[in-house]
Amino acid sequence: MVGKGGAGKSVIAGTMARILARDGERVLALDSDLLPGLSLSIGVGVDGGLPPLREAAEKNEDGRWRLKRGIGPARAVQRYATAGPDGIRLLQAGKIPPEGIEPIMGAVNAYYRVIHRLNEVSSFESWTMLGDLPAGPRHIAFDWAPYASTYVVVVQPTAQSALAGRRVARVARMRAGVEVVFVANRADGAADVAHVERLLGEPVIAAVPPDPSVAEAEQLSRAPIDHAPGSDAVTEIERLVGALRSLARDSAVTSA
Ligand SMILES: Nc1ncnc2c1ncn2[C@@H]1O[C@H](COP(=O)(O)OP(=O)(O)OP(=O)(O)O)[C@@H](O)[C@H]1O
Ligand SMILES: [Mg+2]
Repeated sequence: MVGKGGAGKSVIAGTMARILARDGERVLALDSDLLPGLSLSIGVGVDGGLPPLREAAEKNEDGRWRLKRGIGPARAVQRYATAGPDGIRLLQAGKIPPEGIEPIMGAVNAYYRVIHRLNEVSSFESWTMLGDLPAGPRHIAFDWAPYASTYVVVVQPTAQSALAGRRVARVARMRAGVEVVFVANRADGAADVAHVERLLGEPVIAAVPPDPSVAEAEQLSRAPIDHAPGSDAVTEIERLVGALRSLARDSAVTSA
């Protein structure tokens, strides 16, 4: 999940994770944003404290971070991903504490190493990996989602958001073999959707409406799917999950 700041990445990612997990998939939610978001929309509350993953990291003789001996990607997920609702596993790089980034540097380094080795674990092939990336194109460029086969660019119906979305999409499309699709968020009706598509110059695969229950959920520190399971926003995110499944099926057929 990528896009401009505040576009709705975390709300959509967290809700998708819950929907997929309820459908029986093994979901690993991957949170590389150093600011809060995903844990709230998944429904494990506000992030507190230092990331468990810091236990996986140590410094070598040159003062560079590495994974501790004996900790590979499978063990890192098993030990340091936390349990969320519906059986979701949540692996986090960590959130910047008030005193600055230093206390989480080990975890951030361990996270980057672990996500680059998820493909070594054969049992993960049947899992669904769902990442919530920080705003902007930088993390795509620096390969913070090597597990992704599809980038979902979230845009709002404003010129500024669409411009940012197009830039993010262009960076994502430089990666070989990935799909890049757009989702409109806070799109109020057909006119808004048409407006977004005109600004983007291509279609969106889903359009999540502005929904007061999403804002309410945030105020209550609850997941949108727990606070308002039948809301318009959650219903559309369910449709989005279906659309992404068809896309994955189609591209599997094409590549076969
Ligand atoms: N469809 C919607 N209707 C109403 N409120 C929404 C909707 N989508 C998101 N919001 C609210 O907008 C804010 C931003 O959403 P969210 O945190 O998901 O964006 P983000 O792209 O992850 O932001 P960041 O770049 O800061 O990580 C939140 O307060 C969220 O509750
Ligand atoms: Mg976010």
